[in-house]
Amino acid sequence: MMKTLTITRPDDWHTHVRNGAILQAVLPHTATQFARAIIMPNLKPPVTTVTQALVYREEILQALPTGANFTPLMTLYLTAATTVEDIKAAAESDAIHAFKLYPAGATTNSDAGVANIATIYPLLAALEKHQLPLLLHGEVTDESCDIFDRERVFIDRHLTTITRDFPSLRVVLEHVTTSEAVQFVVAAGDNVAATITPQHLLFNRNAMLVGGIKPHYYCLPILKRESHRQALINAAISGSAKFFLGTDSAPHTRDLKENSCGCAGCYSAFGALELYTEAFEQADALDKLEGFASFYGADFYRLPRNTDTVTLEKSTWTIPSSYGDITPLKAGETLSWKLIR
Ligand code: DOR
Ligand code: ZN
Repeated sequence: MMKTLTITRPDDWHTHVRNGAILQAVLPHTATQFARAIIMPNLKPPVTTVTQALVYREEILQALPTGANFTPLMTLYLTAATTVEDIKAAAESDAIHAFKLYPAGATTNSDAGVANIATIYPLLAALEKHQLPLLLHGEVTDESCDIFDRERVFIDRHLTTITRDFPSLRVVLEHVTTSEAVQFVVAAGDNVAATITPQHLLFNRNAMLVGGIKPHYYCLPILKRESHRQALINAAISGSAKFFLGTDSAPHTRDLKENSCGCAGCYSAFGALELYTEAFEQADALDKLEGFASFYGADFYRLPRNTDTVTLEKSTWTIPSSYGDITPLKAGETLSWKLIR
């Protein structure tokens, strides 16, 4: 008999679905895999107001395949121009679930991000007051800081102070990649959590750099060495409610990835749950997948857990070499679990 795994339907607490043609291409994948997803606001121009987010939300709903049962959870992009009134308006909207902070220049479409975190302290106070989560791209951007150290230095330089000065601010350190990030989150209060991507659970930096440079493994924060991957696996399978699923699925067209200055981002929405299942199985911890994928994120965001289920079967399939103009993570390779659709 075919081996199967049934879990409560999961949610993705960090994804990029873009807009326009890419939205049309990727949204069916996310909506098949997940009941809900936190939609990152780094469009061009960024989504900074409730009004813009509601327009974007409508565009997403229009792009859903008929019969899809999927709820986009919108976020706003925090900039130096964000006001305390913007935060109050977001808190009053049922559609908005968090603010995202990108240090200026940290990653794709982050030019509008915050150059000096000290200047937005009144905004952090407003987020704390209105109980809206702050989602952090936790990397410093100074040129002098080595790219492999940027997350650790962000924690030392900024996150320690933010969590000290705003002790009840709910913070998600997004897409953690280092043992230092895991240690920080474990030691912090229950108001501090982290998402972990499939690529950071499955690969270390060799995947990107050995045997030729592999642009489809380039994302930010960049893949780290094996000991960090091990720390992330241990966090994900620990059963701690502080760590939950966030794919950071980040589609870019192939020409922008396979480029002399390639964009950061791995496209994983097509098979996100299968990728995570593979990682949990390798760690002999399939029993820990459901909490990570389906419970802890909803609890952190103070949303009800989903009540329906999804089933995966143990059967090998080959990931296509492309989905239209987008090359998926592990293109052309196999996965050993398949979501029954
Ligand atoms: O690799 C990444 N891609 N990291 C990010 O933080 C942003 C994302 C994107 O939007 O492409
Ligand atoms: Zn992201």
